[in-house]
Amino acid sequence: PHGAGASPYPSHSADSMAAEEGQWVLMATGRSPTNIAVIKYWGKRDEALILPVNDSISVTLDPDHLSATTTVAVSPSFPSDRMWLNGKDISLSGGRFQNCLREIRKRARDVEDEKKGIRIKKEDWDKLHVHIASYNNFPTAAGLASSAAGFACLVFTLGKLMNVKEDYGELSSIARQGSGSACRSIYGGFVKWCMGKNNDGSDSIAVQLADEAHWNDLVIIIAVVSSKQKETSSTSGMRDSVETSPLLQYRAQTIVPNRVLKMEEAIKSRNFESFARLTCADSNQFHAVCMDTSPPIFYMNDTSHRIISLVEKWNQSEGTPQIAYTFDAGPNAVLIAPNRKNATLLLQKLLYCFPPQHNDLSSYMVGDKSILSDAGLN
Ligand code: ADP
Ligand code: DP6
Ligand code: CO
Repeated sequence: PHGAGASPYPSHSADSMAAEEGQWVLMATGRSPTNIAVIKYWGKRDEALILPVNDSISVTLDPDHLSATTTVAVSPSFPSDRMWLNGKDISLSGGRFQNCLREIRKRARDVEDEKKGIRIKKEDWDKLHVHIASYNNFPTAAGLASSAAGFACLVFTLGKLMNVKEDYGELSSIARQGSGSACRSIYGGFVKWCMGKNNDGSDSIAVQLADEAHWNDLVIIIAVVSSKQKETSSTSGMRDSVETSPLLQYRAQTIVPNRVLKMEEAIKSRNFESFARLTCADSNQFHAVCMDTSPPIFYMNDTSHRIISLVEKWNQSEGTPQIAYTFDAGPNAVLIAPNRKNATLLLQKLLYCFPPQHNDLSSYMVGDKSILSDAGLN
């Protein structure tokens, strides 16, 4: 969650192709990192607007390792809106894509490029169709918050293309309508999604708690247990939990408000012990809610549980947390070390307990900041 590369704001480049006879193409490209919640969002009070039942807090990762890159293009020659995700043609008919497109189009402004002979008036945007191509440099729909990186990137890049001037709070509220967790990826560093009180969602926005330079020593290691697509999407999983889990309501009303305050304090004061205890407890409670759902949802698997045991044993033996772990809606472990020394020790322990097959060794990517390890843990 640190360093220059951690900037979540997509780099954009508006470009255009042959402006012959109005058959021009105007493009913008952006990149947004994913974010991992340390206090989880799980449950909506409004499905259409994507309003949550509790506040949540996350860390935005370094975009070099886990991010979505999206190019949006507009041209009078496009007969319809279309999208390709990781090279595959996907339907844009879902309400979420339409909501994001509509909200950005509503705020679109004049775009003029004299040199390239392109002039788009505010009111013209409604008649122009977009083509969207997005790639994730990490597993999609596997519990590493691809929807967060994806929708944050889509909203930001569309906004750039259409010369939208809204502030980040407003953009986060639009990204939220694509996927709840996406509102937090608009910012780098530590981010809080305030659930809000209003029924129209106007105050359900993300705010930055601390920027990416704030807690520079933290190292995040992601152990890809399985890059397979999960069986239960976050959307349908949390819908079932809201309908059937009594623990969810208790968690949202009684546990999370207090935990959010403590987490904000831990982040502010860089108190790793408190940060780690809260992070692990919240991950475990989120998975308990999944288990409390009818029928129960199992996002973690045996390997995930073995990773938890490894960390818990280490933490117990030292008497104070050495590593924090958290699992989103999938089996993949997000492990947070307070410094490089502990990160190195953790990698050693992981390698010892889960020796990668020979062929997998090359897929270890040990970066300066976040580390993506495809440990072949299946
Ligand atoms: P994850 O845990 O990866 O967030 P979800 O079930 O929440 O899994 O969401 C996966 C969905 O998010 C995909 O099926 C797709 O609709 C959307 N998504 C993923 N990546 C992108 C992207 N780069 N751009 C737009 N949408 C994306
Ligand atoms: C476990 O944001 O993917 O990752 O709003 O339905 O798109 P939708 O769900 P999504 O849910 C994320 C759930 C989580 C926890 C979190 O990111 O806070
Ligand atoms: Co998601």
